[in-house]
Amino acid sequence: MSYKLNNNPMDDILNGFSKKSTQEKIEWVCTNFFQDPIRASEMLNQYRHTITKYQELHESFSENTISNFLLPYSLAPNFLINESPYCLPMVTEESSVVAAASNAAKFWFKRGGFHAQVTETIKEGQIHFIYRGKKNYLVAFIERNKANMLHATDIISSNMKKRGGGIQSIKLIDKTSSIANYYQLSVRFKTGNAMGANYINSCLEEVARTMQYLFSEELVRSKEKADFEILMSILSNYTPECLVKVWVECLVEELSSDMKKALTYANRFELACKIAKESVARAVTHNKGIMNGIDAILIATGNDFRAVEAGAHAYASKSGQYSGLSHASIINGNFKFELTVPLSIGTVGGVTTLHPLANWSMELLGNPDVKTLMKITASLGLAQNFGAINSLITSGIQRGHMKMHLNNILHQLRASEQKREKAKKHFANKKVNFQLVKEFINRS
Ligand code: MEV
Repeated sequence: MSYKLNNNPMDDILNGFSKKSTQEKIEWVCTNFFQDPIRASEMLNQYRHTITKYQELHESFSENTISNFLLPYSLAPNFLINESPYCLPMVTEESSVVAAASNAAKFWFKRGGFHAQVTETIKEGQIHFIYRGKKNYLVAFIERNKANMLHATDIISSNMKKRGGGIQSIKLIDKTSSIANYYQLSVRFKTGNAMGANYINSCLEEVARTMQYLFSEELVRSKEKADFEILMSILSNYTPECLVKVWVECLVEELSSDMKKALTYANRFELACKIAKESVARAVTHNKGIMNGIDAILIATGNDFRAVEAGAHAYASKSGQYSGLSHASIINGNFKFELTVPLSIGTVGGVTTLHPLANWSMELLGNPDVKTLMKITASLGLAQNFGAINSLITSGIQRGHMKMHLNNILHQLRASEQKREKAKKHFANKKVNFQLVKEFINRS
């Protein structure tokens, strides 16, 4: 339902919505967009936190907040990562994702667990600008003023430098072959345990301001004819220098008690990964499975999963063709399954520090530093991918999904414990849909 516009729709623009109190906002939305405003507002209020300080905290994370949207917070135990055991927090609404991760973790626990390495933690941002003039003048200008431009970020960078971070390099990139007069100043950063988006953007804006100022100053003094205009300054979520590599491996014969089955399984697994390298259609879904795990732990730890998603998919296209991020191989009887993924995340700052459950997740993980969290996160991505491929090449994905789907339907039907057990046996190898389950419950 929506409300009717006046003859002059401009009269309907709502001004000052953000200034209204929460209850006023609830009343406005429920009255104007719902057939039963009382029921609609009750629903919103039921999901508001009963402890005022928590509700206020959650409201402060966003704007125009009227309620909370709950998602399940789950645990995936039995992760052995670089020889340390972990129980991983996962926030996801997708059934069978947690079960798949837990099963994969248990499987690999017995086979040496996950091995992970962080190769780099460099992040990048760009100042995008237009320059009309001789290129060698611009190149010389940047060289002459690099130190001053860096110096301009001293105050912003002082804490970051103490933590081993800061600007690593500044480089001019000529983009004029694709867009007339367009250049980038590419700045590389280390951001310690923080994801660093605010720090990077603040530095970039300061460098851009300084660059604009110095350029105008120089131009007044020189006879050079040139024109310079900053367009925008922003970090890039493409982080191919902020990488973590994770792998599991074992002898092929350890994959099953039956050697013949083990080899067939390993070959089918390897082929499934090859297909994800070749076929974009398959690669997207293959990588979605990896991100099922990665996103779930990123949400649980208060990290920006949209940034990581964007970066991971761009990285999957780095060869020019979008392809699967993981790789399986069988070499000299050894099965190895690996994943390299860019993960620009943090263990301090933002929601990670502010959200009580993100804090709880971090404590559960032993308050890891960022490199450790990168390794843990990538391991969960690989576990998820392993679980998905394992199902796909053996029983098919629907079996596990159907089991969870059945649980959801039984829950919706409020079936008794006894009927639930009967239904689970009955539908063990059968198609599940709401109607069939309902009929079964009514009959039994
Ligand atoms: C479903 O959320 C994820 C899968 O489709 C991943 C895959 O196909 O590899 C099962």
